[in-house]
Amino acid sequence: MTSDPKGRIQPGFVRHAFVCGHERQEGATRPSCLPKGSLDLMRELKKAVKEAGLREVRVQKSGCLDHCEQGPTCVIYPEGTWYSLKDAQAMDAVIHHLKTGTVDPTKTLVMD
Ligand code: FES
Repeated sequence: MTSDPKGRIQPGFVRHAFVCGHERQEGATRPSCLPKGSLDLMRELKKAVKEAGLREVRVQKSGCLDHCEQGPTCVIYPEGTWYSLKDAQAMDAVIHHLKTGTVDPTKTLVMD
């Protein structure tokens, strides 16, 4: 049996946030999240999670999440809740979600 350096006895996280870090070439027909600062926002989320001591929460970069027009895009599992990290209120809602598991539906990504 392999020992885990963090002392875990089974795989997985209570909550898992993916932030799109995809970048398309100039002139692409769809926008991408990286030029909108998605990785800086991801680092902010990681810092908030670390400062809150949320060891069961993982924040990480993903590839394109296919909601590019609404980016920077973030999705949190297991709830499967989607966010557009377009302003400070959205970031606050994501941090609150990661800390409490509570979703404010007025702050989630809504398709037009
Ligand atoms: S480039 Fe970010 S969702 Fe597609």
